[in-house]
Amino acid sequence: MRVLSGLKPTNRPHLGNYFGAMRQFVSMQSAHQTGGNFYFIANLHALDQVRNADELRELTTGVALDYLALGLDPSNSTLFVQSDVPEVSELMWILGAVTPMALLERMHAYKDATAKGREADFGLFAYPVLMAADILLYASTHVPVGQDQKQHVEFTRDLAVKFNMTYCKGFDPQTGAGGALTLPEPYILEDVAVVPGTDGQKMSKSYNNGIPLFGTDKEWEKTTSRIVTDSKGVEEPKDPATCNVFQILKLFLNDAERAEMEARYRAGGMGYGVPKKMLLAKIHERFDGPRAKRDDLAKNLDHVRKVLDDGAKVARANGRATLDAVQRACGVSRS
Ligand code: ADP
Ligand code: TRP
Repeated sequence: MRVLSGLKPTNRPHLGNYFGAMRQFVSMQSAHQTGGNFYFIANLHALDQVRNADELRELTTGVALDYLALGLDPSNSTLFVQSDVPEVSELMWILGAVTPMALLERMHAYKDATAKGREADFGLFAYPVLMAADILLYASTHVPVGQDQKQHVEFTRDLAVKFNMTYCKGFDPQTGAGGALTLPEPYILEDVAVVPGTDGQKMSKSYNNGIPLFGTDKEWEKTTSRIVTDSKGVEEPKDPATCNVFQILKLFLNDAERAEMEARYRAGGMGYGVPKKMLLAKIHERFDGPRAKRDDLAKNLDHVRKVLDDGAKVARANGRATLDAVQRACGVSRS
């Protein structure tokens, strides 16, 4: 079992990213150790959105800091930067040669982006082929992703079958045995809630409604206090299910705390200031530690560089073996 996932360095993470994605990668690292956990920072994928070199470098280091601060343990997991393994770009090209255009045209991400009026470039169109190369290069078996990425992993599987059928005699598509490429499975994280933002829409970098994961005290205070609520008076009973504050707060609470808070909402006599203050306190409780760790790590970027360099070595050695087999199978090696 080899677990692999990629993280795009395109934004400063918010609570939605944490509860929807980041938290799970960190908690999965001890559960799936058999073939190793590979987590990489998809800077080649980010080129499509980030068009400033310094910014991309900073965001790339930032993602490494975020994950190390949240507890990703380099002795359990291989953390590396996508572009540090140039083999991935070669595999992408080879895979591209067996990728039907019709398959790429069916990808949601491309269709959605162009439907929103984004001008399509080759990078956006070919995005899933690079993602397939990411997954296949390291012979990944389990790919934890959000629902939005499921189609890309299925596409990857189709592409691996196509390559193996074309080039590997004796490949069995039922069992996956006998191929140069290992067939991966998507691993959809259970209970990946859509975390609402301060305005009640999905929390997203693009809507400016986020609560930053590694914010300053001021940012945390400002963003939690501006969460939109209805205008019910203090004495009136309130509905936790429709309250944006509670929808975020509950992610921090255990069952007993949730039930108690729900009862207080329904009983009346509590203004929205109370759960807002509690949310702020919970954010401090959960993230003060990681935030301090992140600040420390940021003062010692040599350590972070070493983690990424070591990670790249492990990843490259693993990837090389796959690329050798692929080159031999399709005839771009001399023997
Ligand atoms: P954004 O929408 O802020 O640009 P991304 O698209 O970069 O975020 O998402 C990175 C990861 O975080 C994805 O796995 C995505 O599913 C998850 N994620 C983003 N926003 C939320 C949210 N509001 N609730 C739950 N998960 C989220
Ligand atoms: N496309 C993924 C996202 O937008 C990031 C990613 C790139 C990825 N390569 C990957 C995820 C390989 C899993 C496996 O979130």
